[in-house]
Amino acid sequence: MFKEFRALNDITFQVRRGDVFGLVGTNGSGKSTMLKIIAGVLEPSSGTCTVRGSIAPLIELGAGFDPELTARENIYLNGSLLGYSRDFIDSHFDEIVDFAELRDFLDMPLKNYSSGMVARIAFSIATATEPDLLIVDETLSVGDFLFQQKCEERIQSLIDDSHVTVMLVSHDTSQVERMCDRCAWIEKGHLRMVGPADEVCSAYRSLGD
Ligand SMILES: Nc1ncnc2c1ncn2[C@@H]1O[C@H](COP(=O)(O)OP(=O)(O)O)[C@@H](O)[C@H]1O
Ligand SMILES: [Mg+2]
Repeated sequence: MFKEFRALNDITFQVRRGDVFGLVGTNGSGKSTMLKIIAGVLEPSSGTCTVRGSIAPLIELGAGFDPELTARENIYLNGSLLGYSRDFIDSHFDEIVDFAELRDFLDMPLKNYSSGMVARIAFSIATATEPDLLIVDETLSVGDFLFQQKCEERIQSLIDDSHVTVMLVSHDTSQVERMCDRCAWIEKGHLRMVGPADEVCSAYRSLGD
């Protein structure tokens, strides 16, 4: 039997240039689906989404990578998908590898990488340039705490120095409160609340009471 399921229903919100916007909600609520629509990976069956500017999406771990290729080859592959030229990647290659701290594993196929190692490479490539909009799904949570700290610092400097707009999904509501100005809570495909990050996170946390 076929039963229609809508991952997102009647959701409307705006993110302005320079906003750091959080998305919270329990598992399966539609956060990644929303990010994929914004990134242009999925098309909504109804409704519209308008994005002005370039996007660096970090949504699904391993998307835009080929597990059979080495990390070195994947840096070129993934970079080209993000719109980087070969010259740009050549000149930023060392920076990308150094930030990911994976120089010793460059010639190993990506299928032998742990998920945390893939996340390191993916984040490092996506932030080698300054996108207008950086989208970070919870994928980073597979990185170890040192790398998570390093990513948070880099995101913060993109915000402070380059006024990059950021959309962040995290189950760590204290991170969302720390980093985001505004936040939307999506629950089971419906928009429950949108507003200042601290208010939305505290309402979301009260689900557990
Ligand atoms: N490719 C897909 N095919 C069918 N259902 C999907 C697919 N991707 C996601 N879903 C469903 O859409 C809902 C929202 O998923 P998702 O956006 O990944 O949630 P979240 O990121 O908030 O955990 C879930 O019920 C999930 O099972
Ligand atoms: Mg998700």
